Amino acid sequence: MIKLDSFSLFFVANWKLNGNFKFIDQFISNISLPRDKSKCVVICPTSIHLDYMSKNINDFYLGAQNVSQHKDGAYTGEISVNSLSDLNVNFCIVGHSERRQIFYEKNEEINLKSVNLIKNNLVPIICVGETLQEKEKGITNEILEEQLKNSIPISSNFQNTIIAYEPVWAIGTGLTPTIEEIDVTHQFIREHNVKFNKFKILYGGSVKADNVKLITSLLNVDGALIGGASLKTDEFTKIIQD
Ligand code: 13P
Repeated sequence: MIKLDSFSLFFVANWKLNGNFKFIDQFISNISLPRDKSKCVVICPTSIHLDYMSKNINDFYLGAQNVSQHKDGAYTGEISVNSLSDLNVNFCIVGHSERRQIFYEKNEEINLKSVNLIKNNLVPIICVGETLQEKEKGITNEILEEQLKNSIPISSNFQNTIIAYEPVWAIGTGLTPTIEEIDVTHQFIREHNVKFNKFKILYGGSVKADNVKLITSLLNVDGALIGGASLKTDEFTKIIQD
């Protein structure tokens, strides 16, 4: 397993259902990676493009966007942890809000997927976050508590798991919580369980070149999970270079 504590900051690009071979070629030739090796840059393309990327990259790490909770067997259309290992994938996003909302993924499933990833030396990036409705009801902490308690497996520790806080209402909207809100929520997550003390906790939701520095300067923010801005090579270069 990759040594998480050898990095000070993580930048994880979640390309979602975007990208093709031409885009990948352009991305790889235009991206400029940080010289600072304490920054870990992870690219998560579609699973179809993982193989192509694994053959064309050396300087950044590869992540998947999802994995099956099943090891093998009659599960048409699923992608196993073993298949990801074959492609030198080191990370896997689990429990993204789009999977929770659109594909009805439950905490228990996310937990199982994370257990399998850890057993196979892949790092789950487990996503948690409240909807706008939940925020407006003032129940953000309860929602996060439930997600953290049920989706993070007992076998998780700071060396094998990353947590990502992504407020659902901040994803793809250009809206972000205030810097104070991010600070308070990340502190809440860190203090929720003593074992989270040394976990890497990333922030995601409308991260851009002009807000990333302030967000990642917070004590309890160890990096960013980036959607839209990671598809623009110039913008993403600025994000990881700054
Ligand atoms: P945006 O950066 O486009 O808001 O997406 C965030 C996200 O969902 C990353 O996983």
